[in-house]
Amino acid sequence: MTSIIAPSLLASDFGNLQRDIEMVNQSEADWFHVDIMDGLFVPNISFGMPVVEAINKYAKKPLDVHLMIVQPERYIDTFHQLGASSISVHIEACPHLHRIIHHIKSLGIKAGVALNPHTSIDTLVDIIDDVDIVNLMSVNPGFGGQKFIPRTLDKIRHLRAIIDSKNLNCLIEIDGGVALNNYEEILHAGANVLVAGNCVFGAKNPHEVIATMKAFNRK
Ligand code: DX5
Ligand code: ZN
Repeated sequence: MTSIIAPSLLASDFGNLQRDIEMVNQSEADWFHVDIMDGLFVPNISFGMPVVEAINKYAKKPLDVHLMIVQPERYIDTFHQLGASSISVHIEACPHLHRIIHHIKSLGIKAGVALNPHTSIDTLVDIIDDVDIVNLMSVNPGFGGQKFIPRTLDKIRHLRAIIDSKNLNCLIEIDGGVALNNYEEILHAGANVLVAGNCVFGAKNPHEVIATMKAFNRK
């Protein structure tokens, strides 16, 4: 399976959002990663519906929506209507995770569950068969530009072993601190989706960074 590159628009220049979206459209990237923060589940507020609507107007690739919000069940239908191709909710924010995952799937889009760095892979045992994506946070969510937490590599290997032993199609997405000096070991450990914010939008040549990460598949 080839890896999926998902630039995170949180690191884009919001004053030139259309320009940065066009850059991703023209690049080898696969998805747009869209981070929604509510100032409650995480200590930061990112952006809301009108901005996602604007993103969807120009984006020509799937929108991968990552909800870092409390009670995400209140907004699933809204983000679906705004063009999400996948929606991930945090396991720490969902007492009724099974219900919300099946609701997302009933809309015909991919359902993801996101895990904070301290949350064990073992918490997935009774939901892993139902999800399309596991987003393993490799930083504490809330801010772009943080350092990758190395322990994530063991979590990737552990999860990869479970997914392969059960013969599931579930994707492992890694979110936070992904950079040119660690993407190879992340993919080697068994990840499928790389979210990349600052290392793409902070680069002199974002196309080149995306193409380099994508080229791993051809090695
Ligand atoms: C962090 C977000 C990430 C963030 C990644 O809370 O979920 O998607 O944008 O940004 P970088 O790649 O800069 O760590
Ligand atoms: Zn994210």
